[in-house]
Amino acid sequence: MPELYQELVKLSGSDMYPFHMPGHKRNLESTPMKGAFRCDITEIDDFDNLHDEEGIILEAEERANRLYGADKTYFLVNGSSCGVLAALSAAVPENGAVLAARGSHKSFYHAAYLRHLDIHYLPYKINEEYGIPESYRAEDVAAALEKEKVSAVFITSPTYEGKCSEVGAIAKLCHEKGIPLIVDEAHGAHFGFYQGDEDIKKNSQEEFASIPDSSVHQGADIVIHSVHKTLPSMTQTALIHVQGNLVDKALLKRFLRIYQSSSPSYVLMSSIDLAMKEIEQNGKDYFSKLLYFRNKIDKETSKTSYLKVVGRNDIEDAAKVLIFVKKHAMTGQALYDILRKEFRLQLEMAGEYYVLAIITGSDTEEGIDRLIAAVNEIDGRLSEAKEPQETDNLFVPTLPEKALSLCEAWDSSKERVRLRDCAGRISAEFINLYPPGIPIVAPGEVISQQIAEELNTFIKRHMNLQGVEALDDGENYVQVVAQNPLG
Ligand SMILES: Cc1ncc(COP(=O)(O)O)c(C=O)c1O
Repeated sequence: MPELYQELVKLSGSDMYPFHMPGHKRNLESTPMKGAFRCDITEIDDFDNLHDEEGIILEAEERANRLYGADKTYFLVNGSSCGVLAALSAAVPENGAVLAARGSHKSFYHAAYLRHLDIHYLPYKINEEYGIPESYRAEDVAAALEKEKVSAVFITSPTYEGKCSEVGAIAKLCHEKGIPLIVDEAHGAHFGFYQGDEDIKKNSQEEFASIPDSSVHQGADIVIHSVHKTLPSMTQTALIHVQGNLVDKALLKRFLRIYQSSSPSYVLMSSIDLAMKEIEQNGKDYFSKLLYFRNKIDKETSKTSYLKVVGRNDIEDAAKVLIFVKKHAMTGQALYDILRKEFRLQLEMAGEYYVLAIITGSDTEEGIDRLIAAVNEIDGRLSEAKEPQETDNLFVPTLPEKALSLCEAWDSSKERVRLRDCAGRISAEFINLYPPGIPIVAPGEVISQQIAEELNTFIKRHMNLQGVEALDDGENYVQVVAQNPLG
């Protein structure tokens, strides 16, 4: 059976001359990035077509589908972002309503904007110990579905920080109402392998069962995976899986054609296929390594006093190593900066009082040992400091009052006002800390005095606040809906 990568290698070694896009013509002299350019093509003869696949791409998608087990799996070359756009566009009619968590990725909000969706939020749940978004239980969704009439439910599981919701029970609830469940499982492409594997049970490798099950197995109707986040695949590569009959599969395909490039990268597609092959053939080694690294980190940092690697009772995903600063002895940003500048460790993100590392089966023992050593060393310094300074309390966000719809406000006439004068005004932009990018205020919501003060605190702490602009006059500004667009 031909495989994408091998066919590309064959093409690159052949005498076929490329009088077609891309402009670099697979000429190695055109770039220092030799390998990828040799294989970089878009649709040409014998290489199938992502938007109407029937040959080599279809086979690759079917290979991925066999691993995850949905009705249908499609390759995405524009990341999970385009999968989220397509999923919502297909599952919710224009001007329809969707139930979602506030902590949804920005692609969710972009879909709501493009399709004029009315967003009903699940109750805002923040884990008050660590200051991270909570997962959802079926009862949260059941209560919300009693109140709101929606065409679909959208949840993110695992969250960016690795917390998993009760997907199976939520899917059941949705299906009782006859509506689909979309799960943004962008961070969980490594979930759900070997769950019922007899061989593994026999060899008592039950540990694999400690990796959460995938939302596909748990009955979600659409599941989106960023292959590039936790599996060995190139940036932008992702998958979307669809199953059951609550989502119109032809409509989903239509929206994938709309949101994906008409010149899909074969380098990216073959990278997905190679990652699938790696999991198919060597997945047990890959996941054993992930779990070995994770257990090593947990064990060898277990005696720390201030830096706590949050255990898997609280954060189920083994790939997410959240290092929390107890007693708020330093900010997450300060810890992140020390790890980067002094220990040369680039972490995924800094939160208020934590940093987040992503580990996978592709890490090296040396890298893991360096992280362990750094955590122990910094913890030692904090312990030696006479009185670690307890800083402010955690920011616990609340849902702002909504005055206009997201689309009305984002498309409205805007004006720029000083942050210190903005209380009571309707935001015309998203304001969020990045990462993870969860809106503190979304367009159409009222910026209260309390929110304005919180934004100010983030600025003082030099946190990466998006949607607030510092101008030369030394003031910070936000975009609000113009009070009198004609005047
Ligand atoms: C929860 C979540 N969903 C979707 C996405 C989008 O994924 P991608 O970068 O593959 O487009 C991200 C990206 O960070 C994410 O964190």
